[in-house]
Amino acid sequence: MKAVAIKGVKEFEIKDIERPTIDHENVVIEVKKTGICGSDIHYWVAGEPKGLVMGHEFSGVVKDPGNRTDLKVGDRVTALPISPCGHCEACISGNPQYCPETWTYAVGLSLTNPGGLTKETKVRSDMVLKLPDSVSDEEGAMVEPTAVGLHAIHLADIKVGAKVLVIGGGIIGLVSAMFAKMEGASYVALSETNKARGEKAVKLGVADEWFDAKDTKMVEKALQKTNGGFDIVIECCGNSPAVGSSLMTVEPGGTVVLVGVSLGTVTIPTVVGVMKELTIKGAIGYTKEEFQTCIDLIATKKADVFKFIDDIVSLEDVQKSYERLTSGTDDAVKILVDPNK
Ligand SMILES: NC(=O)c1ccc[n+]([C@@H]2O[C@H](COP(=O)([O-])OP(=O)(O)OC[C@H]3O[C@@H](n4cnc5c(N)ncnc54)[C@H](O)[C@@H]3O)[C@@H](O)[C@H]2O)c1
Ligand SMILES: [Zn+2]
Ligand SMILES: [Zn+2]
Repeated sequence: MKAVAIKGVKEFEIKDIERPTIDHENVVIEVKKTGICGSDIHYWVAGEPKGLVMGHEFSGVVKDPGNRTDLKVGDRVTALPISPCGHCEACISGNPQYCPETWTYAVGLSLTNPGGLTKETKVRSDMVLKLPDSVSDEEGAMVEPTAVGLHAIHLADIKVGAKVLVIGGGIIGLVSAMFAKMEGASYVALSETNKARGEKAVKLGVADEWFDAKDTKMVEKALQKTNGGFDIVIECCGNSPAVGSSLMTVEPGGTVVLVGVSLGTVTIPTVVGVMKELTIKGAIGYTKEEFQTCIDLIATKKADVFKFIDDIVSLEDVQKSYERLTSGTDDAVKILVDPNK
């Protein structure tokens, strides 16, 4: 079957891969929609690992239910792409995100388990969740990034009336901003280097205001606006300037949640963290419960994630879509891929 795989630096190739074999254990899913994620972009930019078929945010229908007696052929599903061991302390306590095995065999993030940038994918049966009819295929592919934002917001522990800054207006930033408002933040701002994305966050109603991260006075303006800093800053980029600005814009005693990922080392002004006695938390992935919560929130229309989808493209247009998402000027945030288009 046709698949999109990493060929080199910022280069994909369309190739033919084997269809997943039915083993009566794992669930085989016919992919309906797959999201392009900011993390996928890091791999594409690095051009590694070669041959990787990405796509860890997907929805589809069951082709083979594996060992799941509650599933049948044709059921609409999504899945956590992770591969926690299931028996370590982290897994037993309901925190698979801490399990050392979680990303080792992750679907769409490991060479052994091709993701949704093809027609069929095979997923561990305990990671598959049903989608209610009120969740569309498009929304089903949005559950994974929505759960990342929800997890970050849970860790941020926002109090009603809090002032929150989200750094980075990609999907993770937008979803985090949306949840910050739902948690009762009185003022949610977003900083962006891409003007079109900054303006879009305000237009979509998830941010009250946006700050231009390219403006050398951005930190000064943010501190002025908040009378000394934000209660909470959620960093959703991962690069040094962005992480640095998170420490600079949070108030003394405040909390910074690091969600953005960098494949390289990031330098930060630690003295600022020391002098402000900051709490700095990392946020990785989600729990299964948070994943299910996102399905429920989308199903009941309490979380509108459909508005974040900009385009739905074919496998042939994946290369072009990655270029569009990294142009630095386009306002597109989330592009879904339909392998049957
Ligand atoms: N921790 C996790 O579990 C988790 C999960 C998914 C994604 N991520 C990471 O979160 C980050 C965001 O993901 P995404 O899908 O939204 O990515 P994205 O690339 O779409 O968004 C990042 C945004 O940050 C902006 N940006 C870059 N430098 C900036 C700066 N100095 N100040 C302000 N904005 C700046 C970019 O213009 C872009 O819009 C990525 O690093 C991704 O790898 C982490
Ligand atoms: Zn993702
Ligand atoms: Zn484990």
